[in-house]
Amino acid sequence: MKKGNNKFYITTPLYYVNASPHIGHSYTNIAADAIARYKRWALQDEKNVHFLTGTDEHGQKIQAAADEAKMSAQDFVDKTVLQFKDLWKGLDISCDDFIRTTEDRHIKTVQRVLEILHKKGDIYEGKYEGWYCTPCESFWTESQAVGKLCPDCKRPVEKITETNYFFKLSKYQEWLIQYIKNSDNVNFIKPPKRMNEVLSFLELNKLTDLCISRPKERLNWGIPVPFSSEHVTYVWFDALINYISAVGHFDEKDKYVSKWWGPDVEIVHLIGKDILRQHASYWPIMLHALGIRQPDTIFGHGWWLIDQAKMSKSKGNVVSPLDMVNQFGIDTYRYFLLRDVPFGLDGNFSEEGIVKRYNSDLANDLGNLVYRTLTMVEKYFEGNVPEIGALNERGQQIAKKTKALAQDIGFPLAADAGFDFSATLGKIWQLINMANKYIEDTKPWNLAKENKTEELKTFIRLLIDVIRAVAGGIVFFMPHTAESILEQIGKEKIKKGKPLFPRIV
Ligand code: MSP
Repeated sequence: MKKGNNKFYITTPLYYVNASPHIGHSYTNIAADAIARYKRWALQDEKNVHFLTGTDEHGQKIQAAADEAKMSAQDFVDKTVLQFKDLWKGLDISCDDFIRTTEDRHIKTVQRVLEILHKKGDIYEGKYEGWYCTPCESFWTESQAVGKLCPDCKRPVEKITETNYFFKLSKYQEWLIQYIKNSDNVNFIKPPKRMNEVLSFLELNKLTDLCISRPKERLNWGIPVPFSSEHVTYVWFDALINYISAVGHFDEKDKYVSKWWGPDVEIVHLIGKDILRQHASYWPIMLHALGIRQPDTIFGHGWWLIDQAKMSKSKGNVVSPLDMVNQFGIDTYRYFLLRDVPFGLDGNFSEEGIVKRYNSDLANDLGNLVYRTLTMVEKYFEGNVPEIGALNERGQQIAKKTKALAQDIGFPLAADAGFDFSATLGKIWQLINMANKYIEDTKPWNLAKENKTEELKTFIRLLIDVIRAVAGGIVFFMPHTAESILEQIGKEKIKKGKPLFPRIV
């Protein structure tokens, strides 16, 4: 975090409501949730953090899905949005706001943006002739649509000619290149691989102006363009604006005002790598043209694959997050997604993968440490948490690590460290494993037999302190587990429950 920032604003993409949410969608929200929970703690007041998610409800895809369901587009989105709202509840996503692009607050802001840019001459009327991919809602030039196929989804494109409105991306291309290259902005596009991708694209290709409208005769389901009775707004231009429409407004001098977009806020957009072009080219230019500051970080994470391939309805391999939660529990699912793959890389999703992590990290390492420590407190001290005495050398080492963990020293959970959840959890597990090894090497039952009560007290109290620090560390990732651990370890008296993670066989 930059010095002086005392507020934090984090967003996820807005999900299209034409299909049911799958594990890929849940990934961004779980990641954003872990960061938001961490920042609420690190910034010492939950009011300093704003976490936004929502749904993208306009455009061709949604209209087509509504037609198929024989519903009006509005009725269709009102119904399907609930799947997303329910999912975020079911995954403990602590978002502060949920924006739908069909809400008034959003529509008003989008229309205002169009008006401001039109007045400024950055939006102009023109004729479009070329190839169009309906599923991707993208226009392509002759040379891009090789074999009359969409270069993104490889489906056939159609030739269209129509009058539309265009946004002057090309005018700002050079500005964007310099902005990304500026050493003050090294965190602007993350991870570095994604930044290089964007830069080389911008340096090798001339940006064409973005067609930001659709004729109503072809598509009616969109935000009306305020200066044309014949057009609605292109869905991407509409959707990106959510990041500002949710948290502020334009004043009478066309200045954008927001508590969450000021100079004292660190602004982070989490997205999947496939929507980097829109977020790292269109969006920064839109903001710049409006005279609005840039976000600090646009982070493009990797994809979850099944057997190394994309999930798809036609393959029938789309995994539902709530099915995974019902089978393995919320915290196990959250842990698996954040631990198994470094943020930014692709990962392979499988139930066997979850079971493996569960049995080793959760049942064997964490669950065991808690269970056997509490069993010893019951057995040797009638459930009373003992006082700590003089530590031996190994005890001192563990105490030092415990203190560092409790103060989050070295948690790589900031933008410049790439929001490395996996490494952060790895650090917590290092301590868990150190403590388990300490139990095995110390053989506390011998201390008990030999009546070395003071040594035994200190030994067990250190383990309790480790577990408390571990609970404090995992709370951002696995809130239920942390709570349950802290309930079992009361201040003075423990209340041992069932094992946290019984082995799956
Ligand atoms: N509506 C646009 C985003 C607009 S943001 C202003 C959109 N929606 S989407 O529903 O198709 O995708 C939303 C997000 O889900 C994207 O970030 C995409 O990368 C992510 N994922 C979709 N499938 C995924 C995986 N299999 N794995 C990880 N994330 C994936 O694009």
